[in-house]
Amino acid sequence: MAKKQLITKVWIEEGCIVCDACETAAPEVFEVMDDTCVIRPDALNAEFTKPRSEGIVDAAEECPVDVIKFDSDTVEVADEAPTEPAAAPATETQTAPSPAKKAPAAEPKKAAPQKAPASVGKTKAPSAGEPDPSIQALLEAATSRGGNAGIMRNSTEVPTSAQGWRATDVDNLPPDARQAKVVEAAQKAKKQSALHRRDFVSNSAVAIGWTAFGVGTGISIGPAFGRFMMPNVLEEPDPRIRVGKITRYMEMAPGDVNEDYKPQGIWMIRDEDRIAALNIICTHLGCIPNWQPNDRKFKCPCHGSGYYSDGINFEGPTPRPLERFKITIKDGIVIVDKSKKYQYELGQWDQPGSYILV
Ligand code: FES
Repeated sequence: MAKKQLITKVWIEEGCIVCDACETAAPEVFEVMDDTCVIRPDALNAEFTKPRSEGIVDAAEECPVDVIKFDSDTVEVADEAPTEPAAAPATETQTAPSPAKKAPAAEPKKAAPQKAPASVGKTKAPSAGEPDPSIQALLEAATSRGGNAGIMRNSTEVPTSAQGWRATDVDNLPPDARQAKVVEAAQKAKKQSALHRRDFVSNSAVAIGWTAFGVGTGISIGPAFGRFMMPNVLEEPDPRIRVGKITRYMEMAPGDVNEDYKPQGIWMIRDEDRIAALNIICTHLGCIPNWQPNDRKFKCPCHGSGYYSDGINFEGPTPRPLERFKITIKDGIVIVDKSKKYQYELGQWDQPGSYILV
């Protein structure tokens, strides 16, 4: 009797490098996916793995990263050379294949043909010219359909087309068709997952784009919208300008012009008994005249209009005198209010506020 190792359980640990060696050695047991290898569903059954023990052992030995593990039973099987002493069945667990366990002469590859464990002890050694029952059992299990015999036996029941096995319940399918259906379902789920992921990425990109558009729009129009909602009345410059103590203007001689506040649009002038604040804008077309002290006049460079020191026009195209601003005094400080103007031609220069008596 020879000893035979029958795989009762096989699994794959982490570290698969997807080399395809296992699927090449035992395609009914192993399936190499994109990123790892898996045990096919049928191979989770001991009755399925036992007849495929040699392929599983080969796959484990050829695995370059040694991630294929299995449990096995060692049984005695009929041997053509009866000189080998029979040994009692023994059970062992092998978690890592090693050449030492395959080397002995009594190992499956070099032993006489064997049969599945269920028939161990009941199978007689075949006579010359007759098929060995253990070899027959292995041959029948050589394909997941039970070999050609199985195919022939079940030919009326096995769906012969893809449409056939797709329409048949998986429990009623032979292993190959069941495996094909499972693999197809897995591939379909994988494609759907990839589509969902792509849709998610696409939708995320659209969402990010709209978010960026919203943020950009908010940044660009936000300040303008804020100003629209909050009128900028406080940013207008105060029309009231403090132009200094009244004493400095009391010291001026009649006809003098103070240009210190020309940048603010004001000439401070001194008349006989009063001071006033002239608007520096030419009343012709809005240019700014220049004070010419030697000539004691304002002369507009644009069209030649001329004004006396009190603002009365006397030459050029301008139709009327310069305007005057409202002027007040508080605590000895003269304050000019540019929001209020007085026009000579309207008789407003005599109105209170158009001058300060000194
Ligand atoms: Fe001053 Fe025309 S704008 S003269």
